[in-house]
Amino acid sequence: MESERRVKNVHVAAIESLRYHLPMRIGIVQTSPVFGERDRNASDALDLMSEEQADLWVLPELFATGYQFVDAKEARALAEPVPDGPTSQALIAFAGVRGCHLVAGLAERDGPQIYNSAVLVGPDGLLACYRKVHLFYREKGIFAPGDRGFAVIDLGSACIGMMVCFDHLFPESARSLALQGADLLAHPANLVLPDLAQRTMATRALENGVFTATANRVGTESRTEESLTYTGRSQIVAPDGTVLLRL
Ligand code: ACM
Repeated sequence: MESERRVKNVHVAAIESLRYHLPMRIGIVQTSPVFGERDRNASDALDLMSEEQADLWVLPELFATGYQFVDAKEARALAEPVPDGPTSQALIAFAGVRGCHLVAGLAERDGPQIYNSAVLVGPDGLLACYRKVHLFYREKGIFAPGDRGFAVIDLGSACIGMMVCFDHLFPESARSLALQGADLLAHPANLVLPDLAQRTMATRALENGVFTATANRVGTESRTEESLTYTGRSQIVAPDGTVLLRL
């Protein structure tokens, strides 16, 4: 059973994956955040999700802040501690009310460092925080590379691994998660290269025998001399490489 909604620039879709023996309903959220409007972007995404049911939601990379920071100072001002910052707390509150889990990308501040992170939260709070290992292009001047490796969390119904956007291009990211027992790779993204990750993630699913759920954003940011257009086409892929759902 599939459902898809479109509200302005925001999409939500969920798919029930029982036919592939994953006993959970996965939702992917494709948003177009307004740069810097962190609390509003987060509450808009959660409002939208309130109208659907999923056991596990996946949201885009940096879904609350937007992506194109002009420098590290700006990123630091919008980054937040995990799990005490407002975005993690909003996600945890949503998980508590809805009895679900969420994976979402956010800018994490930890002492002097900022990280391009993804959190996995549930009704009881934070379960894991992954810090993006493979930083893309100008991210290297803004974020510190992830220092915790790749982790898998057993939710009981399935084991979830997290990777963020550009990690897709490095087979070791998905492989190390699969070797740790992941059933599903949750993949928050802000993709700018047309159709590349959509193809690599279908390959990652097939070569590792796992589900993948990529939540990519849409919209354009022109905050530097370089304009970035995000490619959407979020997707859920089955372990045989079949695209179950594409926005
Ligand atoms: C990317 O890693 N956001 C392309």
